[in-house]
Formats: sequence, C-alpha cells, structure tokens
Amino acid sequence: MAKRIITTDTTEEDIRLDPGLRPQLLQEYIGQEKAKDTLRIFIDAAKQRQDALDHVLFYGPPGLGKTTLACIIANEMDVNIKITSGPAIEKPGEMAAILNNLQEGDILFIDEIHRLNRQVEEVLYPAMEDFAIDIMIGKGAAARSIRLDLPRFTLIGATTRAGMLSAPLRDRFGVVNHLEYYSEKELQTIVLRSAKVLDVEIDNRGALEIARRSRGTPRLANRMLKRVRDYAQVRYDGRISAAVAAEALDLLEVDRFGLDHIDRAILELMIDKFGGGPVGLDTLSAAIGEDSGTIEDVYEPYLLKNGFLNRTPKGRVVTDHAYEHLGRSRVDAKK
Ligand code: ADE
Repeated sequence: MAKRIITTDTTEEDIRLDPGLRPQLLQEYIGQEKAKDTLRIFIDAAKQRQDALDHVLFYGPPGLGKTTLACIIANEMDVNIKITSGPAIEKPGEMAAILNNLQEGDILFIDEIHRLNRQVEEVLYPAMEDFAIDIMIGKGAAARSIRLDLPRFTLIGATTRAGMLSAPLRDRFGVVNHLEYYSEKELQTIVLRSAKVLDVEIDNRGALEIARRSRGTPRLANRMLKRVRDYAQVRYDGRISAAVAAEALDLLEVDRFGLDHIDRAILELMIDKFGGGPVGLDTLSAAIGEDSGTIEDVYEPYLLKNGFLNRTPKGRVVTDHAYEHLGRSRVDAKK
C-alpha cells in the first residue's frame, strides 16, 4: 500500500469524498485495459529492479481515472504520493521546494500539468531527466547557479489534451497513456461495485440505466449512483431498479444518451442561431457563456464520439443524429 497520500492544492473532490469508491489496486480497476496492461509490466519491472518507475503521462477527458491510476501506482509501488496541480504551483521556487522534499521512489502527481507556467515547467526538465535542479544564488554579476541532486522520483502528469503540453515536457515522459471513455458494460460493473461499497441495493438493469447515462465517465456514474440512491430512498424503498433510475435521472435532466442540459443547450443553440453550423469554437463559447476550454475538453469530446457533432475545417456542425435525438428537423431550424 502507498505509504502516504499527501493531498494539497488539489481540486479533486472525489479523493476526499468516499475514498472507498476508488480501487486501490490495478486488479480491482475496471476498464482501460490497454493502460492497465502496460502499467502492470512497467510497475513489475521497476519493482524487480528496485528502481523508481519511469515518468508517466495520462491524457484524456476529465473523470476517466487519471488520479485514481496515479494512486494505484503509488500503492503498487509502495511509495508516497504527493498530489498537486498545474495552476497551484506559481513560482519556480515552489516547484523546487516540492521536488526537494520528495523521498527516494516517491511519486509526484501533477494534475492539469498543461497549466504550469513556462518558468515552473523549466524546473522540471533537469528534474525529470537528471534528477537534479539548478538553483540561482545571488543577483546581478555575482549570480551563479548551483546544481542540487534529487532522489529518484516518478512524475505522473495528467492533462485533458496531450497537444497542450510543450514538446520538451511531453518528450520527457517515458510512458504515455491515453484514457478512453468507458463502455456501458464497464460502467455497469463500476456502478455495481460502488453500490456494494456504499451498501446500496441495485439490480443489474438499474446499474445499466445509470451506466448508459453517465457519458462514458466513472466519476459521473458514481455521482449519479449517489443521487439515484437518494431518490430511491425518499420516494421508494431504497432499492434501485431500471425504472427508479430512469425516473431519478429524468428529474436530473440527464437523458438516455447521457446528455445533460448544457450538452443540449450547445446543440440547440447551434441549430437555432447558426442553422446547425459550421460554428467556430469561440463564437459558440461566447453565445453560450461557457469557457471555450471547458467546451473543448468536457462537452465536445463526448458529443463528437457519440455522433452528435462533427468537426469540419470551417467549424463544428450538428449531425442528423443530434437533430433526430432533439426531435428537430433541419427545415424547422432554418425557418
Ligand atoms: N471507481 C471509479 N473508477 C473505477 C474503475 N475504473 N474501476 C473500479 N472502480 C472505479
């Protein structure tokens, strides 16, 4: 087991709430088979050599298990993990202090690593490559740099888009894993497992209903499970069937494809104001009042993957599938 989890500066709510919902070992982790297979090999190899694991980068949409996997790696390697995030480290000196406090083999997990500023990022280059940091002492003509050795540590970085990392940083990760959306079946298994941890009664079809509506994302599936549990407890006898789950999720305005009110607002707005597109991301962001990065990282990947949106060189366009799902026709929209 990981010796210590030190969580400061993290916006991750789920690491503090219901820690039992997070699997602790790779073999308990459901889904992401490709990432699991490669991690298993690298973890075992590093342990056999009694060496730190190579630096690992996880990228993919939010809520797919990047932090969970980082904690699992710490458990499997039996080392400490320090959790922080890109925006929380503002100065090079802060990064140097964090690195200097690590012990041999420790893991430093940096969420949203693409949001590190350039000066802070530059401290990481020699740290990752040579396990050393260069510190400037003195000012002006008397200034000189001294090199401070660090213990061998593992950096685990997480980002929603690998393309947003600078090339020098990306190149310093030995293991790069893309996390994918989960299948309905995998999410159903996760919901059943979480229900057991939370001591909630649910049948297979109830779990499938939640899985279907949780946009391929375990974090949402677990969140929905808790809200459906509340509903089942107050309105019924606490047991979750498919009908109870569907009723509760309708109330939460999550539809049968997992689209929430913001997904639908994006599509409706594109249909009503822009004749279904093409629309540029910034125009869309201004019209809907949602940050363009959030649209691109959170909403768009799911809409693209499920065929509600297409990307064209001129901008985003709404698909026939989306028109059909929303009960709209192309002719109406143009009126
Ligand atoms: N809880 C959240 N994500 C999970 C996963 N991938 N496997 C098992 N339980 C989970």
